[in-house]
Amino acid sequence: MSTDDDAPPADPELGDLALALIGSRFSVAPKRLLAPGPTPAQLQQLVEAAASAPDHHDLLPWRLVRIADDQRERLAALFEACSRERLPPPDEADVARARAKAFRAPTLLLAVLRLRPEDPEVPESERAVTLGAALMALLLAAHGMGYGAMLTSGRSVRTVRFARAFRLAADEQALCFVSIGTPSEVQRRARPSAHELLADWAPDLGT
Ligand SMILES: Cc1cc2nc3c(=O)[nH]c(=O)nc-3n(C[C@H](O)[C@H](O)[C@H](O)COP(=O)(O)O)c2cc1C
Repeated sequence: MSTDDDAPPADPELGDLALALIGSRFSVAPKRLLAPGPTPAQLQQLVEAAASAPDHHDLLPWRLVRIADDQRERLAALFEACSRERLPPPDEADVARARAKAFRAPTLLLAVLRLRPEDPEVPESERAVTLGAALMALLLAAHGMGYGAMLTSGRSVRTVRFARAFRLAADEQALCFVSIGTPSEVQRRARPSAHELLADWAPDLGT
């Protein structure tokens, strides 16, 4: 809703910059993310950008876990163990593919959704929206810094073994990995038009 009292945007150029940033962001697959990744100071800025996400009742329903370079072999072993638990059992090529994912992208984070403290006004879906918004802010900030990034999940992150290995609390869920690095290649994808996503309300007149 707009009123005559609406203040004009403080900086009209900001809108153009925001649209340019958002419109030029595309995910870059982890295997195409090379060194260097963000510096420690840049990573801090990225996490602080993520913290700008809307958050009902300020519950901070997420956290990020960094997987260090010297922990990649341990992560590969975890991916292997998770893949060997699957039915039907994987062949050795499947296992090798699962292991290889641990070594991609110079910066690798795990995004964790936190479902406590309980708050009757903030259902799980709203908490997931906060984490999604946080991740989008992080992706955009990374893009603005010249890095590529991508969210990936896979079946392993939803296993009990995985939750145990990352010491997740009973009220936490691993959502996805965030891979960040220097893109070796960018593939642009078509975006849906507003026409496909926006319609005027046509109320049910019987209600
Ligand atoms: C939580 C989450 C998990 C995802 N996991 C995967 C995944 O495991 N593999 C994959 O190819 N894409 C995955 N995606 C989709 C990609 O991150 C990305 O959004 C998609 O490739 C479209 O690229 P775009 O960001 O350039 O539009 C996931 C997206 C989200 C939001």
